[in-house]
Amino acid sequence: MNQSEAWPFAIETIKQANHILILTGAGISASSGIPTFRDRGGLWNEFTPARFATWPGLLISLVLTPKKVVQFLIGVLEPIAQAKPNAAHNAIHKLEDVKKVTIVTQNIDRLHQRAGSTNVVELHGTLFEVIDIQSGQVSTLSAGELQNIVQGLHKLASQNYVLPKLLHTIQPLFSISLKGIRIPNVILFGQPLNTALYEAACIAASECDCMFVVGTSGTVFPAANLKHIAKQAGARVFEINPTHIIELNSTQTSTTIHLTGLAEQILPELVEKATQNKR
Ligand code: APR
Repeated sequence: MNQSEAWPFAIETIKQANHILILTGAGISASSGIPTFRDRGGLWNEFTPARFATWPGLLISLVLTPKKVVQFLIGVLEPIAQAKPNAAHNAIHKLEDVKKVTIVTQNIDRLHQRAGSTNVVELHGTLFEVIDIQSGQVSTLSAGELQNIVQGLHKLASQNYVLPKLLHTIQPLFSISLKGIRIPNVILFGQPLNTALYEAACIAASECDCMFVVGTSGTVFPAANLKHIAKQAGARVFEINPTHIIELNSTQTSTTIHLTGLAEQILPELVEKATQNKR
């Protein structure tokens, strides 16, 4: 289907839909200033996931290359601490005025909620929470607290022998003490997803009439399975991305309809056209 056919089809599908599932990835937050992972200049180009996005790798890096960990943490925390929702997050929130919408996000930036969305499944957790690994108790962190950590990290960036100071600086986010071990409430590579959250995402995928896959390379599972679940249950699946993602398993299910371009441009226009005269 070409773009001039895909647009009216997407608009009509939204108008008819009772339940819309929106799966988002890093691309939806790119125009909020948060770099994606795998595009040029992305985080994983500079920092290998095995060393910086697994707990064993991160702990080894803390001991062997603490200054590189400082750079990594600045690269992750600073854009998220400063980001504000963009036109794409706002458009999704606007759609919720007229339709049942479930958002399943792989992002840890909380930007959907800050745009006003409430029905958000954070599959990979969030940087705005810290979890005590023994008790499972979760406490929240503010953007201001993240900013303070970033300021402390910048001070460390030019110093030597940073490990003890680094551990002190990131204490609100990561601490080991007699009171317990507290870590960011995010899922790193090699960790299982929260079962209840993944089940909620699967239920939404099997119940929705249509699904929009926005700004994700679809390389990380099990999130990337959701569109196959939706297709198998008969939903129409659209993808909003400036590049075409190569389909795995596409022979078994209907093809994905591409809306080629930036989420912050496509979503506001799509939602506007699909909800005209509805409010
Ligand atoms: N609008 C829409 N899509 C965009 C935009 C934009 N403005 N800018 C970039 N993209 C697309 C890219 O073309 C790419 O397909 O966003 C996608 C980003 O892909 P990744 O960097 O792989 O990010 P994501 O798919 O969210 O990664 C999944 O991998 O590293 C882990 O846990 C991390 O949640 C993350 C997961």
